[in-house]
Amino acid sequence: MTNVAIIGTQWGDEGKGKVVDLLSEKADYIVRFQGGNNAGHTLVIGDQSYALHTVPSGVLRPGKISVIASGVVVDPEDLIAEIKGLTERGVDINPSNLKISEKAHMIMPYHRLLDAARENSVNGRKIGTTGRGIGPAYEDKAARTGLRLGDLRSEELLATRIDLAIREKNCLFQELYGVPTLKADDLWKRALSLRPFILPFLTNTARIVQEAHAKGQKILFEGAQGVQLDVDHGTYPFVTSSNPTTGAVAMGAGLAPKCLENVLGLVKAYTSRVGEGPFPTELIGATGDWIRDSGHEFGTTTGRPRRCGWLDAVVVKAAVDLCGVDHLAITKLDVLSGLEELKVASHYELDGERIDFVPADSADLARCQPVYATAPGFTGDITKAKKLEDLPKGAREYLDLMEKLIGVPAALVSVGPERDETIILKSYF
Ligand code: GDP
Ligand code: IMO
Ligand code: MG
Repeated sequence: MTNVAIIGTQWGDEGKGKVVDLLSEKADYIVRFQGGNNAGHTLVIGDQSYALHTVPSGVLRPGKISVIASGVVVDPEDLIAEIKGLTERGVDINPSNLKISEKAHMIMPYHRLLDAARENSVNGRKIGTTGRGIGPAYEDKAARTGLRLGDLRSEELLATRIDLAIREKNCLFQELYGVPTLKADDLWKRALSLRPFILPFLTNTARIVQEAHAKGQKILFEGAQGVQLDVDHGTYPFVTSSNPTTGAVAMGAGLAPKCLENVLGLVKAYTSRVGEGPFPTELIGATGDWIRDSGHEFGTTTGRPRRCGWLDAVVVKAAVDLCGVDHLAITKLDVLSGLEELKVASHYELDGERIDFVPADSADLARCQPVYATAPGFTGDITKAKKLEDLPKGAREYLDLMEKLIGVPAALVSVGPERDETIILKSYF
């Protein structure tokens, strides 16, 4: 096997960063293919913790090549701050180990402003976005009015594109949202100032990925967000503006779909969601609060408390079917230690009818009543478990229940945030 796609099967924050960092030990390339700095991937290495947003999670392993491919939207100012922050902590990042697509679209200051203006608007419907300008940047990409990182090479092109964009955006800021407008010239100068840092990293990343694949080199594709945040297949409109599903790996990275070999579906042992939108197994009250505290469920990007609830096998099975998940990486099992009983939604009841799929309409999903299968809880510290037999009986029963309801076997079980707090059941590469 030469490549593996890491896909979040729920609403994000499944522990993709930890698993990518773990598997990147044997990989040659680590490729981010969609999303932007709405992602927050936390890696714990010894006594150090790193929160990554745009930089791929392989960057902490010397000798690996990290790629930010064209499907990603990049906030260059934020990316520079992220790279500088990592460099100050001794992480070596330079144009030979980080390749950034010249075709990746830029998140501009007006995208962030528009995101915030919409979220704060009294007339608008709040999505609970990360406020990073992700939606507006992908909108401009599709509208063919976006700026790509490669456009930084031409002063004239930048000036024309910014001028066009700002005329439209200022109209919205002034007329619709009543927020201060921006000046095209200021934005142009701000963009030009990025060039010395950004330009040396820019390249044709699709070719790099294609050549690596042709040579049989090992590639990890690092997903951001999760399947229920997918703009096509998620809980629309409470979704992000990209496709965190397997199909987007090929498109975002620039590799033919038939080249993808293995899909690892990340499943947190319970469910969390940040922002608005339906969440059938949400636990409002003591148990939800307990899980949030035990799992430190606060957003890596925005610090918001994450909504927490029981595992939803209907949601995970939807991801398995959409993404062709071969194996599961089950994470944060340790967090559930201490609960008397554990529950997994096996199906829903909607208006008195049994259904085993996620309805297309978010209002229907909001009315779904989960029907639960239960397992006895378990106690004790399981973070040092290295094989399934090291786990208490209750934890093994819970894993069996998860695998049975989801219908896919686990390749690894994560029992703590650190690299070695992992039970490996199948080796990659
Ligand atoms: P991502 O967005 O999918 O990469 O996930 P996040 O990094 O946003 O959230 C996962 C959080 O859980 C991070 O703080 C990780 O360090 C932590 N984590 C990952 N795996 C485990 C685990 O198995 N147990 C515990 N207790 N924490 C974990
Ligand atoms: P990682 O990669 C969890 C959510 C936001 C909001 C919705 C739209 O760390 O798993 P956006 O800013 O993308 O327009 O917000 O999507 N969201 C995430 N939730 N983890 C993420 O990324 C997320 N990225 C976006 O909270 O509900
Ligand atoms: Mg996250």
